[in-house]
Amino acid sequence: MNALADLAERPVDWTDHAMVSSKAPGGDEAEAEAIVIEGLSKKFGGVYAVQNVSLHCRVGEVVGLIGPNGAGKTTLMNLISGVLTPDSGTVHLSGKQLKAGSPENCARGGIARTFQNIRLFKRLTVRQNIEVAQVTSKNNRDGRKVHDIDEILSLLDLHSMAELKAGTLPYGHQRRVEIARALALSPHVVLLDEPAAGMNEQESKALIGSVQAIRDRFGCGVIVIDHDLRFIMEVSERIYVMHLGEVIVSGLPHEVRHDERVIEVYLGRKASN
Ligand SMILES: Nc1ncnc2c1ncn2[C@@H]1O[C@H](COP(=O)(O)OP(=O)(O)OP(=O)(O)O)[C@@H](O)[C@H]1O
Ligand SMILES: [Mg+2]
Repeated sequence: MNALADLAERPVDWTDHAMVSSKAPGGDEAEAEAIVIEGLSKKFGGVYAVQNVSLHCRVGEVVGLIGPNGAGKTTLMNLISGVLTPDSGTVHLSGKQLKAGSPENCARGGIARTFQNIRLFKRLTVRQNIEVAQVTSKNNRDGRKVHDIDEILSLLDLHSMAELKAGTLPYGHQRRVEIARALALSPHVVLLDEPAAGMNEQESKALIGSVQAIRDRFGCGVIVIDHDLRFIMEVSERIYVMHLGEVIVSGLPHEVRHDERVIEVYLGRKASN
């Protein structure tokens, strides 16, 4: 049995985690859109890496993005964060259209991200990595409140290693430092590209709590990519599934888990690897 079919058979164990809430703290804002992506497309050498993708994430919502290798997930994040310029489509952040292909503009607007390949200052301490991000982004926050570094460290369970050099930490801890550094930009939306990669089961379970704490404490929208389906199913309120550059299915975790197209397209291919 492949991994998704297996997941579909087994009820998710919610007991270790706070139940996911679809509400952000604070009244009307709970229903507000943090980010709205409409019709984004990007071709490389004539082939679509991302084709006509539309998705949205509300304030205080965790949205999962899954799909097999090469589906276009990272390319989509690169388009949203301004690393790549789309061929067509728009991104609205808190109602304002972002200038395409400008990472500075996206950061100023309130998008922060982590990378699939960890990019830390390895010789700086954990705290210094966060401080550097906070200082260098100070003109890039568009008036948003500066988050307290100790609070960020606590949310990511990094306090005990704050004075250690980032490069000396195990891989899973470095991934959490990357998230902490993204939060130093006081973002409206956080994009996490495979945050649970290389984590053991215990670490990825703890990460679920951290991501939900970020959402609840800072009211961010969070879009998270991962191949760890148990992690994604538990952390996300809604999930989009990409295949060959397109969104093929979106819905609640239990809907996605039981969707025939997802089982066939995503995990059929993975199971044959
Ligand atoms: N800079 C680039 N130039 C040319 N092709 C690219 C470039 N970046 C991505 N691609 C291609 O676009 C497609 C989507 O790649 P992408 O990295 O977005 O997939 P992904 O869903 O993130 O995959 P993975 O799960 O392996 O990280 C792939 O076919 C990839 O080879
Ligand atoms: Mg990727």
